Amino acid sequence: MVSPLALAVDDAKVLVGLETGDDAGVYLHEGHALVATADFITPVCDDPRRFGRVAAANSVSDVYAMGGQPLFALNLCCFPKSVPQEALTEILQGGLDVLREAGAALIGGHTVQDKELKYGMSVVGRADPDRLLTNAKARPGDRLVLSKPLGTGAVINGFRAEKLDETQLETALCEMERLNAVASRLAVERGARACTDVTGFGLVGHALVVARASNVAIRFRFEDIPAFDAFYEAASQGVSTRATSENRGSAESEFEAQADLNEKQLELLFDPQTSGGLLVTAAPEDARALLEDLKNSGHQAADIGEVLSGPARVTIV
Ligand code: CO
Ligand code: CO
Ligand code: CO
Repeated sequence: MVSPLALAVDDAKVLVGLETGDDAGVYLHEGHALVATADFITPVCDDPRRFGRVAAANSVSDVYAMGGQPLFALNLCCFPKSVPQEALTEILQGGLDVLREAGAALIGGHTVQDKELKYGMSVVGRADPDRLLTNAKARPGDRLVLSKPLGTGAVINGFRAEKLDETQLETALCEMERLNAVASRLAVERGARACTDVTGFGLVGHALVVARASNVAIRFRFEDIPAFDAFYEAASQGVSTRATSENRGSAESEFEAQADLNEKQLELLFDPQTSGGLLVTAAPEDARALLEDLKNSGHQAADIGEVLSGPARVTIV
């Protein structure tokens, strides 16, 4: 029997399928690259409207990570009975705000009852098939540019555990609400090669996905990696996440810290991000121009390392 997976991989119209662990699938339809993805998350803050915004920004981000623009979306709602209708309406309104900002239409969705609240979207976008930012295009010599600071995982958990207050959450929350739209457009314009958004696997986990798909090694300079102050404030109080240790465990055989890092610094590298920034690879001159553009458009972006020849591996110096 032919598995459905094999069928999908063999189909010449599937430009990006399951095999490279990319951010979104890409399907060639009458000369257009259609980009499709789905994502949902649990609450990151107390304000339902802002949670809706973050969930939507996180969902559309996978389209941006492929160099695409979102066209339309479907809501994915797992809503508990215990949450008041007003709050649910606010969540959906937050999602709609972000879709408007992204220039995409909401055309439907699905709701189920669940014990734990989750919200997100399935999003379809389009991209230029010749300028897709896939995970498989990184080349030795490329620089790596990151468009947002790291640390949302521990920050969110610190807030949930009442070890951080709302002011400490605020900077990270604003970054989570920020669309990766501008960063993506700038990356495409500057001729970037590979791209992924840093989400649940953390910086090293997602860098490894790119390294494996492109068959290259990646080297980060720790001192150049931007982090939220609140991450260290949370980590100093012992706050971490379950995913952080899982991410660390699964990267173990392909990860090496040559720099002398303390426990908090190591945690940052594996901290799961919600609506994280784009990690972009580009030739040095293009990367320099991209970094300039990102900074000029208000991104706390940084050049954090380089691509080396393989085998797939992530090193921190
Ligand atoms: Co992604
Ligand atoms: Co995703
Ligand atoms: Co990608």
